[in-house]
Amino acid sequence: MPPEPAGPRVSGLDVAMNASNCDRRLALGCAVAREAGTLALAAFRDRSQLPPHTFKGHQDYLTATDAEVERLVRNRIAAAFPADSVFGEEAGGSFGSDTWVVDPIDGTANFARGIPHFCISIAFVQNGRTELGVIYQPVTDELYTARRGGGAVLNGRTISVSGMVSVSHAIVEAGWSTRRPLGAYIALVERLFAAGAQVQRAGSGALGLAYVADGRLDAYCELHTNAWDALAGLLLVEEAGGTINDFLANDGLRRGNPVLACTPALKDILSEAMSQSASR
Ligand code: IPD
Ligand code: CA
Repeated sequence: MPPEPAGPRVSGLDVAMNASNCDRRLALGCAVAREAGTLALAAFRDRSQLPPHTFKGHQDYLTATDAEVERLVRNRIAAAFPADSVFGEEAGGSFGSDTWVVDPIDGTANFARGIPHFCISIAFVQNGRTELGVIYQPVTDELYTARRGGGAVLNGRTISVSGMVSVSHAIVEAGWSTRRPLGAYIALVERLFAAGAQVQRAGSGALGLAYVADGRLDAYCELHTNAWDALAGLLLVEEAGGTINDFLANDGLRRGNPVLACTPALKDILSEAMSQSASR
C-alpha cells in the first residue's frame, strides 16, 4: 500500500463545493461592485456640488461616499457569506481563511474633484492566495473580473496584456503615494523616462492595473500600495498573461508592499528601476 499523503485529506466533493462557492462569490462580487458603482455614480453626477471632501492625511482625500459604499459592500457580503472576513480601506476589518479585500472608491481624489477616473475594487483571498478579483468603473460601465485559473474578462470578453517587448515603446503608469519618500518616487520616474518609457499617473492604482490587464497600459508600478488597491488588479494582470510581483509576501495583505505588474518582457528592467529607486 502506498503511504498516506501528509496533510488534510481533500475529497472530490470538497473540491467541487469549493469551486461552486467560488462561483457564488464571483457572482456576488460582480453584483455588489455594480450596485456600489451605481451609488458612487449618483453622488459623482450630482453636479450641484462636487462631493464634499476632507483629508485623512497629506493629499489623502476622503468623501462620505467612500464610507457609504464600503458599508453597502460589507452588508452584502455579510448577508451572503456570514463566516467570511472583510478588510476594507475605510473601516479596516479582520482576516480569516476566507477574506474579502475591498476598496470602496479607488481614485478618491479624482472622484472628489470631478474627474471620472475611479472604481470599486474587490478581491477575495482564500488561505493566503487571491482567488477572485473584480474592478468596476462606473462612469464607463466597465466590469473587469478574474478568477484564478479562469482568465481575465472585461464585460464578458476575455482580455490579455499588450505583449509589449520594448520599454522605449511602453506606456507605464507610476503610482505615487505619500507612504514612501518623494525622492524615491522622483528617482523612479526619472529612471523610467531614461529607459525610454512614457510615464503617466492617473490617480487610481486599481484602474491602472486593470488597464495593464486589457493592454491599454504596458505596466503599472508603485513603491508602496495597500492590498485593497492592488489585489484584484494583480489577479487580473496575472490571468491576462502578465507578470506580477509577489505582493502578499511579508504580510503584504496587512502592511501593503511595492507593486509591479507588466508584460513579461518588461519585468526585469522595471523591477531593477524600482529596486534602485526604493533606497532614495
Ligand atoms: C490611492 C490611488 C492612487 C495610488 C495610491 C492609493 P485612493 O488610493 O490608488 O492612485 O497611487 O497609492 O492610495 O486614496 O484613491 O483610494
Ligand atoms: Ca484606494
